[in-house]
Amino acid sequence: MQSDGKRPMIEVRNLGKAYRMGEEIVVALRKIDLKIERGEICCVFGASGSGKSTLLNMLAGMEPPSIGEIFIDGVDITKLSENELSRFRQNNIGFIFQSYNLMQMMTAAENVALPMVFCGIDKARREAAARSVLKAVGLGDRINHYPTQMSGGQQQRTGIARAFVTKPKIIFADEPTGNLDTKTTKEIMDMMVGFAKKYNETMILVTHNPKLADYADRIITLSDGEITGDERIRHDEK
Ligand SMILES: Nc1ncnc2c1ncn2[C@@H]1O[C@H](COP(=O)(O)OP(=O)(O)OP(=O)(O)O)[C@@H](O)[C@H]1O
Ligand SMILES: [Mg+2]
Repeated sequence: MQSDGKRPMIEVRNLGKAYRMGEEIVVALRKIDLKIERGEICCVFGASGSGKSTLLNMLAGMEPPSIGEIFIDGVDITKLSENELSRFRQNNIGFIFQSYNLMQMMTAAENVALPMVFCGIDKARREAAARSVLKAVGLGDRINHYPTQMSGGQQQRTGIARAFVTKPKIIFADEPTGNLDTKTTKEIMDMMVGFAKKYNETMILVTHNPKLADYADRIITLSDGEITGDERIRHDEK
């Protein structure tokens, strides 16, 4: 579906998630209402256990909510069948993980080409696109390296290339720099946010690092499964 440019990229209504643990019910998210516009870079902050990953996983269609609606560019993903949802994810969503989640038996190029397999793109085009995105993240000389032959920063660059290669509408990143040193964190953040801005993609980034707020247009704070802060940042103030 084409965006009309006016509706929010993400709209969440009365979203809740509870997990049953034997006799006990753990409420991870409650009554979340949220609108995120196209091109916004949002940072999600909150203490450990506040529901950040749960929120991200549900917005990305990786986990179903217990209650509520999630519209992604106008499509209620909670109403899609499993097949429709995986196709929707492949075409619209990129995800960057803290621990990279690369396939260990695949080279950097094969990892980056993987999401395109499911989009029905032929092999030659997949390989060319993977090489080109790997060059764009500065890994032109690591194309045939396996994850174990790369540094953490290089593995995360591969993860970024894999997330961006299908030109998704939204990039989700859950603690993408959690395992990286300060210098590499800056390189990775500059790269992710740079790509998102260049292609007007929406980015939702979970982090514990308060310094990363500098990259955000908007800061959302979660406490005990609820949104307790939602602040737009003006970058034009000096
Ligand atoms: N699969 C699950 N089964 C049961 N409870 C879960 C499950 N996943 C998450 N929870 C609970 O939901 C709450 C929110 O977890 P979540 O992983 O979203 O927190 P988080 O904010 O991402 O924390 P962290 O900063 O440590 O990553 C926690 O209390 C957690 O124990
Ligand atoms: Mg988490």
